[in-house]
Amino acid sequence: MDSPPEIVLSGIQPTGGFHIGNYLGAVQNWVRLTETPGYRCFFCIVDLHALTQDYQPGDLPGRVVEMTADLLASGLDPERASLFVQSHVPEHAELAWALATVTPFGELGRMTQFKDKSEHQPENINAGLFTYPILMAADILLYKATRVPVGHDQVQHLELTREIARRWNARFGETFPEPQPIHTQAPKILGLDGKQKMSKSLGNTILVSEEPEAIKKKLLSAYTDETRLRKSDFGHPDKCYVCGLHNYFSPADVTARHHEGCATATLGCVDSKRALAESMIAYLAPIRERSLALRAHPERIREILQAGAASARSVAIETMSDVRERLGLYR
Ligand code: ADP
Ligand code: TRP
Repeated sequence: MDSPPEIVLSGIQPTGGFHIGNYLGAVQNWVRLTETPGYRCFFCIVDLHALTQDYQPGDLPGRVVEMTADLLASGLDPERASLFVQSHVPEHAELAWALATVTPFGELGRMTQFKDKSEHQPENINAGLFTYPILMAADILLYKATRVPVGHDQVQHLELTREIARRWNARFGETFPEPQPIHTQAPKILGLDGKQKMSKSLGNTILVSEEPEAIKKKLLSAYTDETRLRKSDFGHPDKCYVCGLHNYFSPADVTARHHEGCATATLGCVDSKRALAESMIAYLAPIRERSLALRAHPERIREILQAGAASARSVAIETMSDVRERLGLYR
């Protein structure tokens, strides 16, 4: 007999277009998962989660469109996965409420992301920020997902999801599988300062749909090996941010030339940055073009998201019907 399919679910906040860290660290892996036989994939743009952080309501629809355009442009095929917006499937919020009743209050208080975000927005420590992991658990359990690709910062939330599933199953009968994380050897891409992780909130990013001139400008200001002050100093390509990025964006011969040029002091950091800019612009050009073309047709994006929500919802409705019955709600 065939083994049951693995059900994969992941979520991403609608931050607008995404950066090369998101692309190399997460999205490329999502695309690979959709191509894996036996995997049924759901990818959710988590707009309800986004409401917990400071934002302008007028910006949110555009951020969803840009995020969707970048995902599709990066090769995510909506025929191979359900790509949808969280708020289009109201069962997410409904299940979150039910799961809240089996979530230990104390566990929520231990979440490091809650503490970090509270420090980041001391004027807006809302209850949604506190219950954020319950909504994330609902995203996952609604589809009975078995595998969840996440970055390290989300592992604690996934552990809590498993705990919630266990408590639910113990109280109301076996309903949800305990989802396992998928950790890829995803690289952690640093920001242009070469020190902190590349992150939208730190303003140190290069977007996949960044204009070529902006890529050049940003890379020319990027950090390089601190110990190499002059071109005549020998560099350390394994410690140099620019050399590191060559690994991902430049053809093998260009990468090798610049690594060697750095180590032997025959090529300077500026040469290396110019070459990297050229490679990165060429690498990202097709993604940028596809994304811009899609953004020019928001009706096409809307159609794709509506179809994604319809296919996700057919599963969500079934789960919720079972959940309501198990809860003993009068029907
Ligand atoms: P940001 O920090 O820019 O807000 P998110 O936290 O929304 O990004 O991350 C979305 C996805 O992209 C996550 O799966 C995360 O692990 C991945 N990711 C984010 N930043 C990086 C990075 N600098 N390097 C590798 N992967 C990253
Ligand atoms: N909390 C995740 C983040 O900030 C996004 C997310 C929401 C998610 N729901 C999810 C990730 C479900 C995986 C599965 O990156």
